[in-house]
Formats: sequence, C-alpha cells, structure tokens
Amino acid sequence: MKKSTLLGNITPAEFLRDYWHKKPLLIRQAIPGFKPLLTLAALAEMAKQNHIESRLITSVDGDWDMQHGPLETLPPTTQKQWTMLVQGANLYHKGADALLRQFRFIPDARLDDLMISYATDGGGVGPHFDSYDVFLLQAHGKRHWRIGPQKDLSLVEGKPLKILANFKPQEEFLLEPGDMLYLPPHYAHDGVAVGECMTYSIGFRSPSYQELGEAFLQFMADSIDLPGRYGDPALEVSKHPAEIPRHMLATITEEINKVRFTEEDVTIFLGEHLSEPKHNVFFTGPAKPLTMGRFVQSVAKKGVVLSLKTLMLYRGKHVFINGESFAVGRADKTLLDALANERTLPGPLVAGASDDVMEALYTWYQDGWLELP
Ligand code: SIN
Ligand code: CO
Repeated sequence: MKKSTLLGNITPAEFLRDYWHKKPLLIRQAIPGFKPLLTLAALAEMAKQNHIESRLITSVDGDWDMQHGPLETLPPTTQKQWTMLVQGANLYHKGADALLRQFRFIPDARLDDLMISYATDGGGVGPHFDSYDVFLLQAHGKRHWRIGPQKDLSLVEGKPLKILANFKPQEEFLLEPGDMLYLPPHYAHDGVAVGECMTYSIGFRSPSYQELGEAFLQFMADSIDLPGRYGDPALEVSKHPAEIPRHMLATITEEINKVRFTEEDVTIFLGEHLSEPKHNVFFTGPAKPLTMGRFVQSVAKKGVVLSLKTLMLYRGKHVFINGESFAVGRADKTLLDALANERTLPGPLVAGASDDVMEALYTWYQDGWLELP
C-alpha cells in the first residue's frame, strides 16, 4: 500500500503526540496533485440551499460585512476581497466525505465537518482564532497564511465577525494546492487569498462542559425516578407564613440528593448527544422503498452503506445512530460495530444478520439513514 502523505513524513501517532492540540504543523503536499472536489458553480449552488449553512464575507479597508445564507447571488469574481464559506460539504458530496474520513485516525466523536471557502484576490475572514482544532487544506489557488501563538485574544468590538484586535503573527506561509496547515485551538491566524482560491477546513468538535451539562440534565429528566410526595405530619403553627419551612427545605434537599447517575447513564447520554444530526440535516428515504422481502434479498447480495449524513457510534453494548440508542447482544454488536467503523457492510455479512438487526436496517433504509450501494 502507498504510504500516506497526509501528515508529511510523520505517523498519525507522532502527530498526535507532538502536534495535536499543541502546536501548528505545515505539511507541504499533504495530498500531492490535489484537485478541488467542487467547482465554484457547484459551491454557489450549495450556498443557495436553505438547509446548508453558508456565509458571504466582504472586507473593504478594514470594514467587515457578513451575510448569512441562503445566498441567492454572489459578487462578481472580478470583484476583490470577498469570500464565501460553505459548511458541511461532506454531508452532500461523496468525495468531500471521503476526504474527511482520511482523518479518522481521530475518532468520529471528535470529527465535525468539511467547510469549503472560496475567495477572490485579497479575500479572507480576517485575523481570528477558532475554539477548535483545524486542518486547512489548500484546494485551489494560493493562500497566504500568517499565524501566531499570542495570548491576547481580545477582539475588535462592534464587528459582525471575530477579528483579533492585536494580531501579532510570528510565521507566514504561502500554501499551494495540496499543502495543508494544522492549527490547534486558540492559535491566531489570518489567511488571505493570493488571486482567487479555495481552502478546505477539516474541522473538529469539542463541546463545552456547560453545553454537555445542560444537555445531560435534560436527558436525566426523562430517566430519574423519585417516588413519593412531600408531607409534613409534624407541622407546627406558622408564625411567619411567607417563610419556606426549614423542614420542607431539608426534606426536599435530601430527596433531590437521591438523584444519582452512573457512567452507563453518561455513556447513553453522550452517544445520543454526539450522534444527533445538526438541526439543519434532513434525511430523505427512497421514493419507492423495496418491501422487506426484496430488501433482505438485495442487501444479502449488495450489502448496505450508511448515508453521508448518518452519525453512528458505539461504546460497550450500546449502539448510537442519529441520536437514538439501543443495547445489543454480542452477535449483533459485532455486525453493528463493523457497520459503524466501516460505514458499509458487504452482502455476505448482512445476510447473517439476526432478525432484529435486519428489521433495524430496514427501518433505517426507509428513513434514508442507510442506502443500498
Ligand atoms: C477560510 O477558509 O477562509 C477560513 C478558514 C479559517 O481561518 O478558519
Ligand atoms: Co479559522
């Protein structure tokens, strides 16, 4: 097998040890001879869609303007200093999905999406920092990057986008197609198009503990079990009727303290949370679905493949798909873990699926979560 050039001459293990979440890495010709996966016209078409997140950013002499999609029209390509960003290209384009999946030496639970930017000469989003790790792959044309490890992350006030007030770059690079720059979170950067260019951002997710905590409490609300009701057989005459009685407070504190959760609860919560598709993702099932019988015949021959939009994870006996979770036995688990890892299953393997798994596969097929290859 050809050695991967994605990280230059270091292995994924060395990258994770020395660079990931720590310091930048420039990789010349990470993907030699890389050709853009989408034309500007195809990208502009995506930006017109309601369900695809896009932004148009223009800057004239330090005056920034940002417009959220859907973007009906774009400025002419002869006009300098504008950029269009299209989020989640991997959800709609097989090649974009395949590119993102080259980064699966990092778990799916950390992977976010592939964002594509197009810019005319001088275009960019300004000096800023991101809260996430990112690989910036130059897809077309050239981009001049300036980067720096600054601690001062204060922003210019009153701008429609995050612009660093005191950007102090320490290094600069000119990236050409196939070159890639990795940046850890909070690393200041500014990429400016040199002539028209396209950059692909392979982005990661790291939910804040606050976001997780709030979502976890909502999740727990559905599963807590606190029997009984407050009572006060020893109630005494009230001298200050508006004051909450001491006994009431103590008893209720004690009862609420009985809310407990285990690592298993967190497992189920996290799996459902991380596999939940973003709010703008919609699945469409087949217009004329096969009957269950025909489906079983077909998948036994051709196998199945997950939809580009499907998020599937597992941990222990729990399998998670698009925000739903279920616990499975050992035989079913082997098959479903393989589907989650490979995102496809060959016919002979599917043919051996239990009735339960086959039924689940059929439902997912009807819902558009899974397709026939
Ligand atoms: C871009 O592609 O223009 C911006 C990417 C980034 O700086 O995060
Ligand atoms: Co950035």
